[in-house]
Amino acid sequence: MRAALIGTGFGEQHLSWLTKCPQVELDSVVYATNRERAERLARRFGAAKVSDDAADATDGPSDLVIVASPVFLHAEHAARALSNGKSVVCEKPLALTTAQAQALCSAAREHDAATMVMFQWRFHPALQTLRDALREGRLGRPVCADLQFHHDFLAGEPTPFPWRHTPGQAGAGAFADMGVHLFDLLRWLTGEEFHVAGTLSSTLWASRRSASGTVAGNTEDTGAALLRADSGFPATVSVSRVTGGRRSLRVSLSGDAGSAWADVCPETTAASLASSVPGLQGAWAPGSLRNPYLDFLAPVSGTAGSHVPDFSAGLAAQRLLDAVRMSEVAPVGQ
Ligand SMILES: NC(=O)c1ccc[n+]([C@@H]2O[C@H](COP(=O)([O-])OP(=O)(O)OC[C@H]3O[C@@H](n4cnc5c(N)ncnc54)[C@H](O)[C@@H]3O)[C@@H](O)[C@H]2O)c1
Repeated sequence: MRAALIGTGFGEQHLSWLTKCPQVELDSVVYATNRERAERLARRFGAAKVSDDAADATDGPSDLVIVASPVFLHAEHAARALSNGKSVVCEKPLALTTAQAQALCSAAREHDAATMVMFQWRFHPALQTLRDALREGRLGRPVCADLQFHHDFLAGEPTPFPWRHTPGQAGAGAFADMGVHLFDLLRWLTGEEFHVAGTLSSTLWASRRSASGTVAGNTEDTGAALLRADSGFPATVSVSRVTGGRRSLRVSLSGDAGSAWADVCPETTAASLASSVPGLQGAWAPGSLRNPYLDFLAPVSGTAGSHVPDFSAGLAAQRLLDAVRMSEVAPVGQ
């Protein structure tokens, strides 16, 4: 299987995962602005070609296209790859809007394409253990869920990502960066659908300096959303990309028989799981996140991975992302 990557920011992580899959041969690495970085990655991970034209990936010889470009390009790049019969792995959020995500889902169905949205936290053993415990009834009937994803990669005023601060390019701010992971986790952990009841968010920096000039801070840097599961229990989602000194993904699930909470370090993927349930505890060393491509590529050898988030999971998370944006009570600048 030949693979092509579009986007060399977080795309580097995809290359690192892909090179651990023996059936994958890297064909091309596509960039827009930094050829030197693309060449360095191509050398390090053994890609045959470096290009500044996304068509070399979407229309080239690869069977699999990885879309790790900024969010406003996902729909274009993924749709073109699908129309050329490729399998597609797309970064989160799947698109800028629910309408775009819906169109991508339809195209994937039409072409019978294998797809995945990079909701990699589904592949963490701490969260899989938590999910199993809930589904086996060890926590009893769910009564509430509280999810937090806090980071500080944009706590300072300068930004290496001007596109992240512009709604038309990023779709949203911290809710698109990290909230969409939590929307996916909520659905996947509990097996429930959710409705958004209300949202508050704020933007820390009204403008930011970037290498290409000053950019207005028009997307949220922090946010909190209140949701309700179809079965009735409430859930909270709290996100921040400006929380100085804190980098953590926390999931707490409570039922009428017990409570459990997991803490994952997004940098090292080390994790812990604690609970009120006997035997439901654990600690995971750095590097514990399972390579998502192992499960995505498993159907090729006939053993489908059950946790793979395909484009329909991307669409479901996108609906919640759009609902959160629509339910904003009153954006507050600081
Ligand atoms: N799953 C995760 O945990 C995770 C983490 C970080 C980023 N992401 C996602 O990855 C995507 C990229 O984010 P990033 O942080 O890497 O951003 P980035 O700005 O660092 O990288 C974007 C890359 O896209 C390339 N690019 C831009 N326009 C292009 C074009 N027209 N054709 C080809 N390439 C183009 C740029 O050259 C750059 O290499 C976003 O969707 C983001 O949400 C996901």
